[in-house]
Amino acid sequence: MRWLIAPALALATAAATAMGGQNMVLGRIVLPRADAPSLAVTSSARGHYVLHCAGCHRVDGSGTPARYVPDLRHLGQFLQLDGGRAFVIGVPGVMGSGLSDAQVAEVANWLLATMARDSVPEGHQPYTAAEVAAARQQPMSDVAAVRQRLVEQARARGMRID
Ligand code: HEC
Repeated sequence: MRWLIAPALALATAAATAMGGQNMVLGRIVLPRADAPSLAVTSSARGHYVLHCAGCHRVDGSGTPARYVPDLRHLGQFLQLDGGRAFVIGVPGVMGSGLSDAQVAEVANWLLATMARDSVPEGHQPYTAAEVAAARQQPMSDVAAVRQRLVEQARARGMRID
């Protein structure tokens, strides 16, 4: 058996060294596990949010409005406006995130079920992957103008969107 294990170990060590020793912990080779927590979290909606959105919108969704990164905690308000539902999933940060249609739907649904929960109108139906796929076929060319029209529509209805 030795003759088999030794070359295998040598190979693994070489691989670990080639990777800058990143897979070495206390001199032992640590092989990544598919079910390791750090990997598992990236497959959850929250994990996707943290990796793909929080860099700009912050982990708590508060954003940096002074720098034009909107607060997402009142996102549900858009759902009450004509065109608002498509706007939420159509902004470039969402469409260009590299997430799949299903993952975009998951992240949007997660946002609306957690940090933006209080703003979601009754009877709201969750986003679906098919809806995201359809939205991708109609990219928004002028996000600021679309948002401005939504803000005006909100004001006309006595709602306030910052
Ligand atoms: C590079 C920074 C950045 C990243 C990453 C990003 N966004 Fe955004 N997001 C913005 C900015 C800036 C706006 C303002 C509109 C615009 O310019 O697109 C915005 C607007 C939005 C809006 C519209 C809200 C409003 O009040 O107008 C939503 C919803 C949104 N982002 C969700 C997300 C989600 C979900 C992700 C992750 C999948 C994400 N964003 C990733 C910067 C970002």
